[in-house]
Amino acid sequence: MSEKLYLYPQWIRVWHGINAILCLILILTGLSMQYSNPDTVVIIRFDIAVNLHNISGVMLSLSYFLFLIGNMIRPNGRHYKIVVKGFLKDLMKQFIYYAYGLFKGEKTPFPITKESKFNPLQRFTYIILMYFLVPAVILSGWVLIFPDFIQNNLFGQESIHLFDLFHLMTGFVISVFMIIHVYFCTLGKTALRNFRSIINGYHESQ
Ligand code: HEM
Repeated sequence: MSEKLYLYPQWIRVWHGINAILCLILILTGLSMQYSNPDTVVIIRFDIAVNLHNISGVMLSLSYFLFLIGNMIRPNGRHYKIVVKGFLKDLMKQFIYYAYGLFKGEKTPFPITKESKFNPLQRFTYIILMYFLVPAVILSGWVLIFPDFIQNNLFGQESIHLFDLFHLMTGFVISVFMIIHVYFCTLGKTALRNFRSIINGYHESQ
């Protein structure tokens, strides 16, 4: 019989929806700015892309703040913690399952429970993403909006260029994450089941 677990509280679903839309806008406008200049338009007019990118960046900062506070004061934060002992072994187990066992129809080594909704690979990825990569892209974005706040010369380079490069690199990694994330979300019991879960909050086990 199918068992329903309530795994995605309302605030996480609202945050996730806003976050996904903002990230899509940021990637689209970011790519557009990368390949356009004030005279040549690629996808979106340069000045519109700059404004949209800045506004979405500010909104992403606010929504990230919601996520951070939510995970600090609500039980959802417990899913973003790792017990170091044995974690590497569990990570390998999950990796081998995705590379091999999944295609042979084997059972998942870490079934979803109320206490542990992420498998070790998800847990590791979400921690790196939400506690390192997203803050890094946000902070470097703020530096690019207010460049006067930083020291002008760092390691002999104009520091704005270093922050720009760092912002591009973290933005690129998050974009790659997003593609892989959506692919992995299709690996549920049916291709659409995980997408339904992040909308209605319930994970169906069968
Ligand atoms: C169109 C874009 C996206 C889609 C369709 C999507 C889909 C999903 C789905 C189905 C889940 C639930 C399954 C699971 O827990 O893995 C999920 C969870 C999650 N997604 Fe996404 N996602 C998108 C974009 C993003 C982006 C841009 C980020 C972060 C930068 C992100 C971060 C997360 C996190 C952290 C969770 C776990 C939330 C929690 O339960 O605490 N997602 N996503």
